[in-house]
Amino acid sequence: MTIRDLDIGFIGGGNMAQAIIGGLLRAGLPATRLTVAEPDAARRGQLAQLAAGIRTSTANTAVAAAADVLVLAVKPQVMPAVLAELAGQRRPAGQLLLSVAAGVPLATLAGALGPGTALVRVMPNQPALVGAGMSVLVAAAGVSASQRALALEMLQTTGRALWLEDESLMDAVTAVSGSGPAYFYLLMELMEDSATRLGLPAGIARSLVRQTAMGAACSAADESQDLAALRATVTSPGGTTAAAVAVMEQAGIRDTVSRALTAARDRGAELGRSKR
Ligand SMILES: NC(=O)c1ccc[n+]([C@@H]2O[C@H](COP(=O)([O-])OP(=O)(O)OC[C@H]3O[C@@H](n4cnc5c(N)ncnc54)[C@H](OP(=O)(O)O)[C@@H]3O)[C@@H](O)[C@H]2O)c1
Repeated sequence: MTIRDLDIGFIGGGNMAQAIIGGLLRAGLPATRLTVAEPDAARRGQLAQLAAGIRTSTANTAVAAAADVLVLAVKPQVMPAVLAELAGQRRPAGQLLLSVAAGVPLATLAGALGPGTALVRVMPNQPALVGAGMSVLVAAAGVSASQRALALEMLQTTGRALWLEDESLMDAVTAVSGSGPAYFYLLMELMEDSATRLGLPAGIARSLVRQTAMGAACSAADESQDLAALRATVTSPGGTTAAAVAVMEQAGIRDTVSRALTAARDRGAELGRSKR
């Protein structure tokens, strides 16, 4: 069985749901297999525009009752209300349930929906919107091999996806790939600002920074390449890159990045505790 044979329902039709829907459509899933429960009328209109045949609804329970795979794509703070709604209803036997909500543990989902529910928790990231996401999945006990394969196939339509066996590492994942795009955007933003201060026209600064970031990411995508070695290929002793890197090192960039990721991981753990 593949995802093309399944009815897929979404609870919440915002950014992440739309990223996954976009991926599924690109992968050839017929739009008529997709149903989205979404309270906001403008968003429902947006969803209907994604492809002819997508159905929308305001009734979470109706969508949940008809889905072979149900994706919970609401904000974490909305999750308790959604779980309370779904808890009391009958859903198809063998339904696979994916949650993309940051910081909501499998135990919370199982506590609300019952220990027999086939649950997969996913930490996607924002570049899923452009098909270049990084998703990390963790499955509850009892999720079958074929359900794991379906979950992976779904997330792979939005970019790369991989399994993590130890859920306690999800806060570290959130700190790295979940929040990570923002760190790169910040660096690019700072480079764009500096480039204009060096006298480059804003449009040129924008193109130079973004294309350079994309080029560096493409080079680094070959994981057999060591990052320090890649950096060395751009850094001649006594040259321009060395001058810039020396300033960053003197300013403590290594410690700053380490403390930043630790802060994100710890904040994730704190938020997760409040949702248990
Ligand atoms: N966006 C990311 O980069 C990203 C990355 C990793 C994980 N995530 C996770 O993905 C989840 C969704 O995030 P998002 O960025 O897609 O948020 P979003 O754009 O706000 O989408 C959530 C949608 O759920 C709708 N909603 C609110 N209450 C609902 C209810 N009771 N039943 C059904 N739908 C309801 C919202 O409608 P209203 O606007 O009318 O409230 C909104 O359209 C979050 O849990 C987040 O942690 C997102």
